[in-house]
Amino acid sequence: MAPQIIVAFSLALSVVLNVPLTTALPPPRPAASDTVSMHPIIANGSRVAVSAMSEAFLFCWVDGASAQQVEWLDPLNVPLPHWSLEASRYQLGSGTHLPHAYLVFVDFRQPGVYTCVARGAEAMEEGRASVIVTLATP
Ligand SMILES: *[C@@H]1O[C@H](CO)[C@@H](O)[C@H](O)[C@H]1NC(C)=O
Repeated sequence: MAPQIIVAFSLALSVVLNVPLTTALPPPRPAASDTVSMHPIIANGSRVAVSAMSEAFLFCWVDGASAQQVEWLDPLNVPLPHWSLEASRYQLGSGTHLPHAYLVFVDFRQPGVYTCVARGAEAMEEGRASVIVTLATP
């Protein structure tokens, strides 16, 4: 080979070898012990207006069957109670092994940010979504 060609070839090779290895590799896969994210979806979007004293419900679910529990939290991040005669708001379906839950307002009067939490089989698997519930202006 002519010397010029050898020089050009080794130059090209050193350019290739100097490309940082990290740019050529896909991002590392999470180890099995890493957090696996759940992605709860609130059917009502991120903002919904409800008329005062009306009955309404919100629906949250997780795409894919991996969620073991879906639970609604009130604006103070306290899990909503289950149904009772006295409850002005409660949740349905938040028992284990269901990938969805309803938040029911019996007579709506508590606007705020409500959060849906989805949990998987492992303690670290968790995801949240929130919805701002406002009083609808008549
Ligand atoms: C929330 O979404 C569900 C499902 O689309 C719907 O049936 C329900 O009426 C919605 N709730 C409100 C308060 O808009």
